[in-house]
Amino acid sequence: MIEVKTEKEIEFIRTASSVVAKTLVIIKKEIKPGISTFYLDELARESIEARDSKPAFLGYRGYPATACVSVNEEVIHGIPSRDKIIRDGDIVSVDLGAVYKGFYGDSAITVPVGNVEKEHLRLIEVTERALIEGLGAVRNGARLGDVSNAVQAFAEKNGMSVVRDFTGHGIGRHLHEEPSIPNYGPAGTGPVLRTGMTIAVEPMICLKGNAVHFLKDGWTVVTDDGCFSAHFEHTVCVTEDGCEILSKREG
Ligand code: MF3
Ligand code: CO
Repeated sequence: MIEVKTEKEIEFIRTASSVVAKTLVIIKKEIKPGISTFYLDELARESIEARDSKPAFLGYRGYPATACVSVNEEVIHGIPSRDKIIRDGDIVSVDLGAVYKGFYGDSAITVPVGNVEKEHLRLIEVTERALIEGLGAVRNGARLGDVSNAVQAFAEKNGMSVVRDFTGHGIGRHLHEEPSIPNYGPAGTGPVLRTGMTIAVEPMICLKGNAVHFLKDGWTVVTDDGCFSAHFEHTVCVTEDGCEILSKREG
């Protein structure tokens, strides 16, 4: 069952999501050559805790950090490390969750560092626009497959591929709720979206092949072909004629 939230519950999810959005803005400014991914994790934790919230990922199924920081061919769930130094030409995905008064917010961005190859800049643009296309299909009465298909169609039209092994999700009192939200599939199928549902849509797009595997750390997901991958995510609330982006960043 996909839960419809009350206005009060949505208000808490809105706050949690805005804590994540503000923290992503802070982190984005600090991403430059020479810093470690661990430093970004420290910033994330400080910012979330300073806003009366808790990191959502820390301890989740044993995950050891506040943020997931995934560089280049890393798709998602990169574990921050003092030894992982960001270099010119990298693309850095930062995925972050916060809990405020028991409710979750979840959002991700991918940031280019310095002189990034043109095709990698295009990968980032296509991934962010694929998210926007997906969100454009969200409204009261739409089918979940409409959202999935909009993401897939946009990515593939641009010659890129969609990761199929991981999905978006409902969100609220838990980080992951029903439904699971694939980034591919036929329009006009799947559950009907209703006003008041809160969902996290999160395309993971690859420049070439969409096959992925785990590294030996048990968390980091990388592309099989070593080509770069990007990730964007928003937590949104379904409305009568569209959606409200709860994790919208300023500017
Ligand atoms: N943002 C991720 C998701 O939506 C959560 C990371 S899983 C964790 O599934 F274990 F790192 F928390
Ligand atoms: Co998520």
